[in-house]
Amino acid sequence: MGARRGERLLFGIGAWHKRLYIFSMTGRGQSIVLIGFMGAGKSSGGKALVRKTGLPYFDTDEIVSKRFGLSVTEIFVQLGEEEFRDAETEALRQLSEAAPAIIVTGGGIVLRPENVKMLRELGKVVSLEADEETLFHRISRRATRPLLQTKNPRATVAELLRVRAPLYHAAADVRLDTSRLTHDEVADAILGSINKL
Ligand code: S3P
Repeated sequence: MGARRGERLLFGIGAWHKRLYIFSMTGRGQSIVLIGFMGAGKSSGGKALVRKTGLPYFDTDEIVSKRFGLSVTEIFVQLGEEEFRDAETEALRQLSEAAPAIIVTGGGIVLRPENVKMLRELGKVVSLEADEETLFHRISRRATRPLLQTKNPRATVAELLRVRAPLYHAAADVRLDTSRLTHDEVADAILGSINKL
């Protein structure tokens, strides 16, 4: 019994050293970072990952929202997108101090190259993706996306996707199509592909 506990302890230290070694070799943390367009399933996939890993959960939209005491839409309307983007970058800076975690980001996080650098330093970056139809269907369920308060939200989604898809792809270690997956399947697929990296 005692020996087994000792073995586990040694294994624990070994795994910890390995993680530290990998971190010092690559300068990259141990978090799982979810990026992707609105409606790609980042929040629900992130919460399923929390249930499976026990890691803490951070969401850049929530951090920014708390900082101003306003909803994301209110920040866009009252302070403007630039102020939101600055606070988003600041949230990522703060997260670099955090222990391994599940980190969920807003759909526009990849617009700033400095953000992408920080995301990749935080850990493994997973791009959640879905076909345009599915994204639009999911987004339309809630009217909480300030960028889609346009005359033709469908065309706005298409245009934003055109600009952003290459940015998500370039930032990602792993890409996953969530169109036909449940939240749990998304989490399992992420964990499976990260283990293979
Ligand atoms: C945005 C996506 C939103 C939120 C803000 C801007 C974007 O987050 O950060 O409305 O630029 O795509 P979700 O992707 O979680 O909806």
